[in-house]
Amino acid sequence: MGRLDVRVRTHLDSTVCYIAREDRPEEQVTVTELSLSGALVVGLSTQLSEIFAIKPVIPGKGEVELLAKLVRQGQGGAAVRLFYSDHDTMQALWEHVRDSLPQTDSCPYCGHPDDSREGSCDKCNLYLNFAKNNYLERHIENTFAQRLNIRLSRLNLEHIQKIIQFVDSKLLKIQHRSPDKEFVGTSEGMLSVFSMIRKVAPTEMSVLLLGESGTGKELTARSLHQLSTRRDGPFVAVNCAAIPETLLEAELFGYEKGAFTGAYATKKGKFESADGGTLFLDEIGDLPASLQAKLLRFLEDRLVQPVGSAHSKKIDVRIVAATNCDLQRAIGQGHFRTDLFYRLNSFTIKLPPLRERGEDKVRLARYFLDKFSCSENRSMQFSEEALDAIRSHAWPGNVRELENKVRRGFLMATGRVIDPECMELDQDGIPAPVPEPVSRPGSSQKEYVIQVLEQNDYVIARAARQLNISRPSMYALIKKHGISRDDMK
Ligand SMILES: Nc1ncnc2c1ncn2[C@@H]1O[C@H](COP(=O)(O)OP(=O)(O)O)[C@@H](O)[C@H]1O
Ligand SMILES: [Mg+2]
Repeated sequence: MGRLDVRVRTHLDSTVCYIAREDRPEEQVTVTELSLSGALVVGLSTQLSEIFAIKPVIPGKGEVELLAKLVRQGQGGAAVRLFYSDHDTMQALWEHVRDSLPQTDSCPYCGHPDDSREGSCDKCNLYLNFAKNNYLERHIENTFAQRLNIRLSRLNLEHIQKIIQFVDSKLLKIQHRSPDKEFVGTSEGMLSVFSMIRKVAPTEMSVLLLGESGTGKELTARSLHQLSTRRDGPFVAVNCAAIPETLLEAELFGYEKGAFTGAYATKKGKFESADGGTLFLDEIGDLPASLQAKLLRFLEDRLVQPVGSAHSKKIDVRIVAATNCDLQRAIGQGHFRTDLFYRLNSFTIKLPPLRERGEDKVRLARYFLDKFSCSENRSMQFSEEALDAIRSHAWPGNVRELENKVRRGFLMATGRVIDPECMELDQDGIPAPVPEPVSRPGSSQKEYVIQVLEQNDYVIARAARQLNISRPSMYALIKKHGISRDDMK
């Protein structure tokens, strides 16, 4: 196979700008060969690993700017790959290439002789009618699959995994897009959650969501619904722990008129309301034993029998259940049925606690802050101390707690900057495990902390670094021991 782009000899005075370097030095070079995808450059003084800008002066058109990357440097010059930021530049370059084509009858792509340049080359099959106005668009379209193939063949497993993770997180964001809710996260744990959501959503499998309170179980259930074929059907959420046991059966399965005192009319249950959609059973660990049996029966035959009715109805509902309790332990204690557990457990997604999500804490905090800033039309930002506090807090209430703290910070801050105090991150006894520095033998912890402060000229950040704790934790220690400036002498 020949080339995918026509290559011509030329002589273009050009400027190279080292954009990745701070002082952005420039040097004059000459482009001696040119195609749409690459060039041969004479006069580059250094071996470059970073992307640089190259600005050839095209006769009749003037200077254009492209990004370039060195492929190899040889005796005849440096071979570079070109990247375009806009179509006009590409068009200008193409016209120069076209006008510089030698007047021969062979195909400029594969060298096959006797081509008429009106139709396509007999050998490589590429279109050769360069005089056509839309030649460039047509050529790029025709060679798209081949170009993609070349790119793909350069990818290794690591690249492919990165792409899949990126697509997973983007896909979920796009599909989940409701005006005020986005599923935020790029930590390893969350990317794996997104990938599982994407895989199981289009199936009919029941899904069990595990995770501490506030980790996003309900958000996950909604994503599963939105990414399923049931997305146009209803999404119904029931919190099994919030409804008294005596009412729960009627609430879930509905009842007939006269089924019990107060049942003045027949009423649909949540199962029926969710017909054709998804039923989210939150806090499933709190489902009473009698209803566990009924749910198991539903999962086996998809029939629902309202309270007081002699008949069952066929209902088409997908079950997504969630719990923050240890179901295995509940089974051991005889509170949860093993058979129901295995039915629900066929696909499990575990939401990691926020404290294990690394920089997602900051990403989420910024996301919530942006959201509040937008809705209140007031732009705010976190101080460095606030970001440190967000990183080091243990977040027992997970994303829900973070959202509440950011909301508080947004409301309490007096200026445009949110400090840890506005979010009550220092005052509420930060359950952030303040890593206690081990005091040296013979000195109390307070003395030790004072000593470390002294050694670091009372620069809190430096002292914190020496003790291997965060700045907010350092402040917390100072506060805990009531250390004042007077002690620090
Ligand atoms: N990854 C996330 N990105 C954005 N918002 C989130 C995320 N996880 C949770 N939230 C928000 O935090 C709050 C609590 O989430 P929720 O799904 O109700 O948690 P759970 O059901 O586990 O208690 C909700 O307002 C939810 O929209
Ligand atoms: Mg919840």
